Amino acid sequence: MEFHVYETAKAACEAAGMLLGAQITRKGDSVLGLATGSTPIPAYETLVKWYNRGVIDFDRIVTFNLDEYVGIDHKNPLSYHAFMDEHLFSKVNVRPENVHLPSGHSAAAGAAYDAAIRAAGGIDIQLLGIGRNGHIGFNEPDDKFTYGTHVVTLTENTIQANARFFRSPDEVPRQAISMGIGNIMAAKCVVLVATGRDKAEAVYNTIRGPITPRVPASILQLHPCCVILTDTEAASLMKD
Ligand code: GLP
Repeated sequence: MEFHVYETAKAACEAAGMLLGAQITRKGDSVLGLATGSTPIPAYETLVKWYNRGVIDFDRIVTFNLDEYVGIDHKNPLSYHAFMDEHLFSKVNVRPENVHLPSGHSAAAGAAYDAAIRAAGGIDIQLLGIGRNGHIGFNEPDDKFTYGTHVVTLTENTIQANARFFRSPDEVPRQAISMGIGNIMAAKCVVLVATGRDKAEAVYNTIRGPITPRVPASILQLHPCCVILTDTEAASLMKD
């Protein structure tokens, strides 16, 4: 596991964008695993900047997002579909048919998403944020790790954290469909970005804590190609 600390949140997120950009440069038909949340936004801005300068091309790029809320229409501005359109897809030349987000709320929908990832040849590089409780995608703390894409019931902690995007916590969907830990671990490389003081416990537990489904991101200690990028605040418990 590589761990790099940057002075600012923006620098950490831009570094993540650079790693995705380098992957696109190395392999023009890369399969990117993408994430939502506020943390990855500067990473997407970095990709858009390089695309506009003619440095990278999305024409043959395939994307799979980590997760989506259940019961929210794709056109709803609070959906992860809309988030991705706003921050990346509408700004680069990715083909709509190459863009994938999980949808539905059944085991069959999850299995179909896993099959699509396999058919695309697997994920070359997976971008991740992290929840304050150590969740990745929407893999919440649990007593077991899940393998494939599945429907999850969000924890109160996550509902409160994500309420800032909605008018009130009551409006936050209670369920989501998310890639599983197995999907994330199967990615050839993983880049996790964490910024801000409220991620410091999650970062510490991910890197230094025991590997446990109670801190889903801790499984990344076993990933053969994982880079964790943080700002100084998110790394503040890592000193000793
Ligand atoms: C949501 C997403 C996660 C994301 C997390 C943190 O729960 N499902 O993928 O990592 O939020 O988001 P933020 O970066 O806004 O703190």
